[in-house]
Amino acid sequence: MAPSYALERLQDLEPTAAQFRSAVLDGLAQRQKRLPCKFFYDAEGSRLFDAICDLPEYYPTRTECRILEVRARDIADLLGRRVRLVEFGSGAGYKVRLLLRTLSEPAAYVPVDISRSQLLSAATSLARDFPALHIAPMCADYTQPFSLPNSTQKVALATAGFFPGSTIGNFNPEQAWAFLAQARRLLGRGAWMIVGVDVHKDSAVLNAAYNDAAGVTAAFNLNLLRRINRELDGTFDLEAFRHRAFYNEAERRIEMHLISLRDQSVDVGDEAFTFAAGETIHTEDSYKYAIGDFQRLAAGAGFEPVAAWTDPDRLFAIHMLRAS
Ligand code: AVI
Repeated sequence: MAPSYALERLQDLEPTAAQFRSAVLDGLAQRQKRLPCKFFYDAEGSRLFDAICDLPEYYPTRTECRILEVRARDIADLLGRRVRLVEFGSGAGYKVRLLLRTLSEPAAYVPVDISRSQLLSAATSLARDFPALHIAPMCADYTQPFSLPNSTQKVALATAGFFPGSTIGNFNPEQAWAFLAQARRLLGRGAWMIVGVDVHKDSAVLNAAYNDAAGVTAAFNLNLLRRINRELDGTFDLEAFRHRAFYNEAERRIEMHLISLRDQSVDVGDEAFTFAAGETIHTEDSYKYAIGDFQRLAAGAGFEPVAAWTDPDRLFAIHMLRAS
């Protein structure tokens, strides 16, 4: 029997194995070797990331959730009735529930995520809990252009983008600007944009958040090499690399690297890459923004700042923006 809830068939624009291979080969051929952090999120990477979110040192997730809980009513009042919510990087779909349960008759939800398995299970469980909501999941890399399903426009009175988790910090400022400008075009004039952004702060707090005592962040970082071994016929010895993360004060970003513990050569398919002892692969940046700095960045991309809410310790901010 067909399900009674309005869950559309998933639209699949998931990056292909060929795109993963060419990103890895290009990145490892650079002088400073690099791997794009978007490829962290295979099934195991998504599981490890969820575990990171529960770590005592990793304050962003619980702080952002608390701000969302406290401010859900303000957000609902601004968005009004029958909104269509587009979430970039929807993951397990936990945070959107904090909004959906307070919004007035939410009309449609478009979760966009690169991890197909997590997207499907989150969308299915949400459809069960919000049977009146029209859900149209899209498996896609949201840094690439895509369009929203027409079916979701017909039912909505307003559109809002939702980009929580400070994932915008994983772009450099130029990429963050480009993402916002593209979201502005996708969502249209007058649309709202709700963005969670980690705030620049004391480096001790930041360094602890990315170097947890239980080693979950290290396992998350190293899992990228395991994924290359499995999917691209790689020969990385996971014992021969170690996680390294530090706050680069000048650039206002956490940098994550994998450091080679010895001179070694690694194959990825038919290509060989040499590593000197101490050489690193730069796997992720996580930029931190003062509130005014982020508002200026958003304004440059066509979003007027409407509000910025923080927690009492000013660790994290939720920015309410509107497409001008
Ligand atoms: C997804 N993103 C916002 C996380 C961050 O904090 O930059 C990814 C992460 N990397 C290590 N820990 C968490």
